[in-house]
Amino acid sequence: MQSKKEKIVVISGAGISAESGLVTFRDADGLWQKYAVEELATPEAFAANPELVHRFYNARRKQAAAASPNAAHLAIASLEQHYQVVVITQNVDDLHERAGSTQVIHLHGKLCEARSSLNPELVEYIGDVELTEHDTAADGSALRPNIVWFGEEVPAMITAIEEVESADKILVVGSSLQVYPAASLLSYAHHKAEKVLINLESPDFISEYRFLQGKTATEVPKLVASWLGMAAINPTKFV
Ligand code: OAD
Repeated sequence: MQSKKEKIVVISGAGISAESGLVTFRDADGLWQKYAVEELATPEAFAANPELVHRFYNARRKQAAAASPNAAHLAIASLEQHYQVVVITQNVDDLHERAGSTQVIHLHGKLCEARSSLNPELVEYIGDVELTEHDTAADGSALRPNIVWFGEEVPAMITAIEEVESADKILVVGSSLQVYPAASLLSYAHHKAEKVLINLESPDFISEYRFLQGKTATEVPKLVASWLGMAAINPTKFV
């Protein structure tokens, strides 16, 4: 009889896509150092200046479409050979999916989708198309990026919490853990779960997590190799 696979939950943030060339939010060169959050990432901003909000997300959509998954995304996808893996990401790019991960929960939405500004469930796939303030959804309302903005509910949290609670191993990677409710997910981990955090710097409140300091594209493949019982992995093999 085959034994049940162990379950790994990966909670990822902008740091994992940094080495694919996508800038983070709160680092020295981050997006929120250059732009005001309240002018771009709130429903009020979209109502006040849709053209500006579209320009910002059109640029990010184009960059994300041009980027490729890096060794960290690929290594995480390769874990599916031996584990049940659920990726819970705060990222709005689709680099986890393009690396081969099959179960990805996007807490903050996706750049490749748009939605009605009246009905969050009226979502359409747009790929890398640019949106304008003249685009409308099927219900006639303004079409907006399918991004969860500040001040909005995070509908995927309920599923995400259930996944974290039932994980045997948790890997938190490339997030400043400053944005809630996403950051609160860590507290739902079972006390027996193995917990690892990979980041450039350590958030000081994470005592029960083993902290591996360094770049995601270096540290994640090393950890994945150890979880797969291999000396090293060649992530490109899994593309
Ligand atoms: P942040 O920009 O807040 O944090 C990125 C983290 O990644 C920082 O702790 C960096 O030290 C780390 N980091 C950067 N480059 C790295 C690398 N090469 N290797 C390892 N670590 C690296 O991004 P998030 O925590 O993902 O939401 O931000 C969460 C949310 O805030 C985003 O989803 C976004 C933003 O506002 C929305 O826009 C709704």
